[in-house]
This record gives sequence, structure tokens and C-alpha cells, in this order.
Amino acid sequence: MTTQHEPRKILVAVAWPYASGSRHLGHLAGAYLPADVFARYHRAAGNDVLMVSGSDVHGTPITVRAEAEGVSPEEIVERYHAEILENWKDLGFSWDLYTTTGTETHKRVVQEFFLTLLDKGYLYKKTTEQFFDEEQQRFLPDRYVEGTCPHCGYEHARGDQCDNCGRTLDAHELIAPRSKLSGSRPVLRETEHYYWKLSAFQEPLLEWLRTREGWRPHVINFALGMVEEGLHDRAFTRDLDWGIPVPVDDLGPGKVIYVWWEAVMGYYSAPQEWAERRGTPDAWKEWWMNPAAESYYFVGKDNIPFHAVYWPALLMGHGGLDLPTDVPANQYLTFGGEKGSASRGVGRSISWYLERVEPDALRYAVASVFPETHDTDLSDAEIVRRVNEELVATWGNLVNRVVSMTHRYFGGAVPEAATDDVDEALLAEVDRTLVEAGELIEAVKLRGALQRLMVGAQAVNQYLNEREPWRTATSDMGRTGTTLAVALGAIAGLAAGLAPYLPFTSREVLEGMGLEVPPQGPRWGRPALAVGATVAEPKPLFSKLEALEREVG
Ligand code: MF3
Ligand code: ZN
Repeated sequence: MTTQHEPRKILVAVAWPYASGSRHLGHLAGAYLPADVFARYHRAAGNDVLMVSGSDVHGTPITVRAEAEGVSPEEIVERYHAEILENWKDLGFSWDLYTTTGTETHKRVVQEFFLTLLDKGYLYKKTTEQFFDEEQQRFLPDRYVEGTCPHCGYEHARGDQCDNCGRTLDAHELIAPRSKLSGSRPVLRETEHYYWKLSAFQEPLLEWLRTREGWRPHVINFALGMVEEGLHDRAFTRDLDWGIPVPVDDLGPGKVIYVWWEAVMGYYSAPQEWAERRGTPDAWKEWWMNPAAESYYFVGKDNIPFHAVYWPALLMGHGGLDLPTDVPANQYLTFGGEKGSASRGVGRSISWYLERVEPDALRYAVASVFPETHDTDLSDAEIVRRVNEELVATWGNLVNRVVSMTHRYFGGAVPEAATDDVDEALLAEVDRTLVEAGELIEAVKLRGALQRLMVGAQAVNQYLNEREPWRTATSDMGRTGTTLAVALGAIAGLAAGLAPYLPFTSREVLEGMGLEVPPQGPRWGRPALAVGATVAEPKPLFSKLEALEREVG
């Protein structure tokens, strides 16, 4: 059924979460879970996937938090990096490398990147005015200042970006700025920085963006709109001492590379770290210096400027590296209509949910509402409903019923099958489900693919209702055996299809039918069951969400 093809090289590049607080369900739905589903599918389809990310440990989100708590930035980073790692482990994420921006490799790669841009004339020194807090005697980069957005009038815009219209900002553009440290009105003071000749990329970016195909409309429209508005040069460095130092010493101390410009370079440094660690130091080039390689950047909508405009511009400036194939940014998951925000405390943490919901159930509930085309609300009551009424009712109970009957009537061995057209039609429907779900996942329509797989599961339920193996068991054991063998085969195919979404329980289902599942997950396709193979004792795949249900009331 599977056709042979050369494995594709696929870089699954996932937004680097700030280690500045617990990550919430919005982050999970926006970037991380979609990436894991996509990576698992492509591995199942036989492609060479490299899935990388890490904790973003620099920048003002970290230092603002550290100062608020009166601890060092290192302490904040250690605490939240550990929590994030624990989340990924609990969720079964299949990283090839999850690192941080605090490694020696990252620093080296970023500094080399800086020197390349400098060498090519894309960086220049400039004395400018930056906000300064006179009470605190400190410069106020990025999130140390808040004020009114010059574009949309939102009053709580931060010095780096407006959360309302999504535009990126330079702090001095804010109207009515106030210092986050003292609340006072900051003054402008001269300081010297490296500037990035972003304006030089206006035309190349326009040309590139205009020729992208298959990008989500909201992504391509935002990126094009931003470039059409006109790109001006941006400060490349900041007055901070927490970050990656500028690799030339002519600015003096207390200057680091702006967190966003170095964090996106993580997509390029992490594959190098991965290759070093595995003792094949050049292996990363297959994903970065190979025109046939593909790269998909999984990010939330507020990250679109950085991945669809700034990162491509940095790559164009560097030269010799592959540009993004797609930036399938998600819109926001909202909680009671509000966007989740770690800094404002909207939306509960991933950890909170993992204490109450099994990982596959949480993955299911979140994947079923992936905000791919518009902002989507997710309440706890909706999580309970999705799990109990869809996942358990349509899929968990189906597996349980068929396995139980196989034990009741056939001592737990896969029965022999003598199929008719109706049986074959069901198996064909499962095969079609896998083909169509696979096409949807390739187009990064992950929510639709999950829906399609659940339609496949409904078809098996309907087949059982029609064939009534519990009734034919009193008169025709041959017929009952065929029905159960076909249902087991259909379930095996659907379990393989659901494995990118439900890695833990899909493995249980397949191994429970005597199938071998490689560490990276099952292959994409309907596996053949051996007649007589032992099927494991029935046991519910999922438990009902009682803890969460009680809290929802
Ligand atoms: N740290 C950023 C956030 O949490 C995302 C950075 S993505 C990267 O929003 F590419 F810049 F690393
Ligand atoms: Zn705005």
C-alpha cells in the first residue's frame, strides 16, 4: 500500500518558550502540540525529521521576572526550564533536541552569525536615544517600558511588541511611556548600538513572500502587510547585561544582542548542537544547506513577524541557508474570550492540567480545537466534553468492546476472517481515512485530520452495530470471528493514524494486538494482524475526567 520514495528532510522548528514562567494551554495549542503531531506523522510516513527547540533564557521577560522576585535570572531560568522539560516528558514530546539558548554552541553560532552580517555590511553602529529611568539610573529596553501603541492606540503595549495589533515596536515609539521599574516617565538618553539594515531586505522579502504557496491566509497577509508598510532599520543590540555579548568590543560593556534576533538563530544552532552530540558534526547541513529540505515553523500568531519576516531577512543576509518552507502559525486559544498570557495570569498552566488529565486525553482535547484559522475558546467544561463524549465514547469504548468480545468468544486470539463486501468496504474506508488524514496533516490541517480519523472510528462503530457480533455469536461463530477480525484490523489502522495525536494509548492498542511498534511510533498505514495472535486483556484506554469534572462543577 505504501509507495517507496526517498525520505524527505523535514526540519520541524518550534518556537522557543521563554523560561520566564509556567507555559499555559495556549502555548501548547499554539505551537508545541501541533509540532509534535506533525513530526510524528512525518516520521511515521518514513521521512527524516529533525524536531528542535529549547527554552529562550534571555531578554527582558526573564530579567523583569527575576527583578520582581528579587532573584537572579539564572534562578528563574533553571526553575522554569525544569518545569517545561517535565511538561514535554509528560506529554510524550518527540524532540530530537530540546535545549536552551544558554549553551556554548548557541553563543558561538550567534556570534558567528553576527560577524557574518557585520562583514556583509548589514550591521552598522549608530548613536540613538533610548528610554532611561532617572530614578533607577538605568536604560529601559523592551519590556521595561509600557505605553500606548502608536499604531492601534492600545494602552498596555510593551516596548517590544503590541499585544493588541501584533506589531513589533521599538520602545521609543510608544506614546505616554512609563517605566515598569519605577512607574515614572522615562527620559531619552543617548546610547550607542549596532543597527540592522533591515530596510535592505524590503524588496527581496516582498518578492519572496509574494511567491509563497499554500501559506495560511492570516500568516501571509500579516507578513505582506508588515513589509508593505515599509521596513526600517532595527536596533540589533540592547543595554542589558543578560544575554549574548556582542562579539566585537567597540560598544563597551553592558550590551547584548537583542533576544529575538538571537533566539530565532536557535533554529540554526540547535541542529548543530544535535549533530555535535551525536558525533556527526556535519549532519545538520542536510536540513539547512539542502534546497530539497523542508522547514516548518510552528509558532503562535504573535510570533509571525519574527518567523515570516525577520528570520527570513536574517537568513537572506547570511546567505547559503534554506528559507522557511512554511510558517503555519496558529491563532490564539482563548479562555473565556481572553488570550492566555503567562505574564497576566490568564489560562492555567500545562502542569495544572497534567495533574488532572491523562496526557493523551489532554492532547486530544487541545488538538480538537487547534486554533488554525481563528481564535478559539477552550473551557474546562469543553475539555471534559471532548474527552468523555468524543474520545472515550467513540474511540476508547470501541477498542474496549472489540477486545472484550475477542476474549469472550475467541479466548483472546485474533480470529480467522472470511470477508464479504461489507467487511472489505470497512477496511477500504479505514485506508481512505489514513490517506485523507495524511494529506490533511501534510497541509498542516491537523484539526481536520483528527476529525477525519474520528469519522473513521465512527464507521467501525456503525459496522459493529450492523454486524452485531454479539448476536451472531449464538448462531454463526465463523461470521462473528470475521467481524471481530475485521474490526480489530480497522482499529489497528486507526490506532496507527491516531498515534501522532495519541502516542501513549495508540502504542498500547497496537502492542496489545501483538504488533511491534518502533520507539519513534508506528508506520503510517494499516498493519496486518496475524491470525491467532494474542490480544491483551481488555482494559479501559482512558479514564473519565473525574478530577477535572468535579472542579468544573
Ligand atoms: N520566546 C518567545 C516566546 O515565548 C518565542 C521565541 S521563538 C524564537 O514568545 F524563534 F525566537 F526562538
Ligand atoms: Zn497596537
